[in-house]
Formats: sequence, C-alpha cells, structure tokens
Amino acid sequence: MKITVVGLGYVGTVAAAALAGAGHDVLGIDIDRSRTDMLGAGCVPMYEPGLEERIEAALRAGTLRFLHRDDVAEDPASSAGQALGDVALIATGTPPTHGGGADLHQVRAAVGWVKSTRPRELTVVMKSTVPHGTGTGRELLESELRGTSIRYASNPEFLREGRAVDDWEKPDRIVIGVEPDDTRSVDTVKRMYAGIDAPCMVTDITSAEMIKYASNAFLATRISFINEIASLCDTVGASIDERLLPLHALRQRFGGAIEGLRVGILGLAFKPGTDDVRDAPSLDLIRALVDEGAEVQAFDPEAMKSARPNLPSSVQLVEGVEEAANRTQALVLLTEWDSIVQSDWRVVARCMIPPRLVFDGRNALDPAEMNRLGFEYVGVGRGPVRGGIQDGSSPWSVMQGLVV
Ligand SMILES: NC(=O)c1ccc[n+]([C@@H]2O[C@H](COP(=O)([O-])OP(=O)(O)OC[C@H]3O[C@@H](n4cnc5c(N)ncnc54)[C@H](O)[C@@H]3O)[C@@H](O)[C@H]2O)c1
Ligand SMILES: *[C@@H]1O[C@H](CO)[C@@H](O)[C@H](O)[C@H]1NC(C)=O
Repeated sequence: MKITVVGLGYVGTVAAAALAGAGHDVLGIDIDRSRTDMLGAGCVPMYEPGLEERIEAALRAGTLRFLHRDDVAEDPASSAGQALGDVALIATGTPPTHGGGADLHQVRAAVGWVKSTRPRELTVVMKSTVPHGTGTGRELLESELRGTSIRYASNPEFLREGRAVDDWEKPDRIVIGVEPDDTRSVDTVKRMYAGIDAPCMVTDITSAEMIKYASNAFLATRISFINEIASLCDTVGASIDERLLPLHALRQRFGGAIEGLRVGILGLAFKPGTDDVRDAPSLDLIRALVDEGAEVQAFDPEAMKSARPNLPSSVQLVEGVEEAANRTQALVLLTEWDSIVQSDWRVVARCMIPPRLVFDGRNALDPAEMNRLGFEYVGVGRGPVRGGIQDGSSPWSVMQGLVV
C-alpha cells in the first residue's frame, strides 16, 4: 500500500518508520527542509528507542522516502494524480492556544495541501489530536473535502514519547472513525495496520475524536490521583516514603511498564550533607525499581561509597547530576542538596530523553520553570504540570475539550 505521511514530528516520523517497516511504500512530507534533509540522510532529530534503526533499514530497502512538501509536484517517482497513494496520514502539530483550545492551522494547511494535489482517490487519515467536531464540523470535512474524491477517517494516536515505536507496533487498540457507510475507509485503515495485533474499534468520526480526549483526561486524572493520595498522606501523617511514592508515580506515568525504563536517582542518603544511608528510603526505591526491571543510575555528593554495598550490583553510581540524568526517561530527586537543586536544569533536560519526567520528592524545584525547560514535572501533593498528557495538550485544554 502507498502511504504519504504529512508532518514529521514525533508521531509522523514514528508512523513513517513503522509503516515502511511493515512493508508499505511510504513517503514522508514536511514543510521544514532541514527535517526532511536530515531524515533522508538517516539522521533522526529526536531520540526514540528503535526509531533510527527502523528508518535506516527502510531507507536502505527503498520503502521510505522523505520530501519537502514543495518538491512533491516535481518528484519523478510520483505520476500525476497518484502522487500520494491510498492514504494521506496527517500528523501535523496541534499546539494549545491561549484559550486552552487546539490550534488547527497546521492540520488545515495539511488537508488543504492534500486536496490541492488532486488525488484520484484517497483517504485522509487524521492522526493529529483534534477536538471532537473537527472532522465533521465546518473546519475540515464540510468545507474542504465534500464533493471531492477524498474520504476522511479519524484515527487517533495513543503513543507515548520515549516508547513510541513499541506503542505503535503493540497498541492497546486501534480506533477508526468514519462517516456512516464508509466501509472503504475502514478497509483502507485496517490494511494500513495489517500485521498489528490489536482490537479495532470502528466508530463515527466525532466519537473517535472524543475517545482520544477522554483518554488524555483519564491519564491526567491517574497522575493527579497519586498526588492526591500523597497530600492525603501528608495530612493524616502517613509516611509517603513507605509507600514508595516515586515508584507509584513512575508506574502510573509509564502504564505499569517499568521494565527497561532508564531512571536517574539524585540523592541516596536520607538527608543532605551526610553519607548515612541507614534506612534511607532511596535504597528501598532503587531495589524496587531494579526488581521491576528498570536500569538505575544514581548520584549522591557524599553517600555513594556507603550506599554501594547496600545496592544491587546492576545500579550504576555516577559522578554528577548530568551523568545521572544521561539518557534517562525519568529522574527522581530525593535530596535537597544545594549543589543538586541548583543544577543547570536546561543542560539536564538535554541529557534526558522524552518524556523527561522529573519526580521531585522534596518539592525543591519550581514546577513552572521545570515545565518551561521541557520537563514533565511531578511534585508531592502539588499536582502535575503537564503530567500524564503526552502530546502537548494541557490538562486544562483536555477538560475544556470534554465540556465544550
Ligand atoms: N507527541 C506525542 O506523544 C503524541 C501522542 C499522540 C498524539 N499526538 C498528536 O499528534 C500530532 C502530532 O504531534 P507531534 O508531537 O508529532 O507534533 P510536532 O509538532 O512534533 O510535529 C509536527 C510536524 O508537522 C510539520 N508541519 C507543520 N505544518 C505542516 C504542513 N502544513 N505540512 C507538512 N508538515 C507540516 C512541522 O514542521 C513538524 O515537523 C498532534 O496533534 C499531537 O497532539 C502526539
Ligand atoms: C552519556 O552517555 C553516553 C553514552 O554512554 C556518553 O558517551 C556520554 O559521555 C554521557 N554523557 C554524560 C553527560 O554523562
């Protein structure tokens, strides 16, 4: 099957790589030339486990190509009317607006461009997260596609950054929203996912859009829930450390899948300025993480020597904050050591890989600032900042999406 992926951010790049790997003939399109040039040379501008290998293999096999949007018309491999193939998968960004809605400019431009190529017959498959009502509302279908040979399907994406390739290949479910009686689009989308073993839910377009928003809201709620429990513990005097709160937060955020997760731990001793690790909660946390299959790298300015004999041998003790953060998806702060709290968090963010979760077990960091630097921040009893939402929509916009 021939598929064009429009928009090569996280979602589009993963989709293009995975679809090409599954044997489809894939063309990836973006309006950012540096991006299409890089990808065409096999350089992947974001880190996702397994992504670069897949792209390299598909480029070598000739099943994947990348083009700037404006070069498609002159592309010799694309004959008139057949340029885009059976599917145009839209994966452009939908950044949040000030009002808490979703900015649909990129999506509208992408659909408009697909239409402008005058395809003979094709299904626009909407991967971008759009508010319910977008597909059938005046926004897109009615004004753009009615009366053309283009069909429209909503096919929301649930992948998580940091595990995106795996999530694509082993999704919990595939949701396909189409217009009544559009069985051809259902068949087309199912053929696109041939080989993937997951339940398929076929709905109308608006329900498919709603399912994605409801799922985001649920994720936001899950991570808020553990925070509520934490503040309840505070209130009633229960010990949060005994509840291994960071472990719960990581399990919640990563859907229980701790295995293979790289986690950095900052602080081993039970308080700053000491190397005393007797009864330090960090040790229980690290053992639990290792038991569940996480790879742990830890740093403490003083307590590494005394901690070593008490830690599983697989735990790497490293020489600084950046080393502890290096290529981890999550970082757990368990100490208020000044030298750690006052790290250059901008540099730390660059060391980490998405979703860059920081669990601040001491509420020592500024949530808004951490968020601004690109972290997903979770404090204790503070509520998440962008927690649980994987695609840029804020909990607020998610809730608005529910009530609008
Ligand atoms: N990132 C996630 O984890 C995730 C998960 C599920 C769903 N989503 C949703 O998927 C969509 C894409 O997310 P993302 O994180 O990949 O976005 P992104 O912002 O990383 O990437 C968007 C890409 O689209 C390109 N683009 C913009 N306008 C274009 C146009 N007219 N034609 C071609 N390309 C264009 C941009 O240059 C950019 O490379 C969003 O709606 C997002 O909410 C994201
Ligand atoms: C991160 O890890 C890589 C690979 O192991 C190494 O080359 C690099 O120097 C490390 N960076 C830091 C800041 O520790």
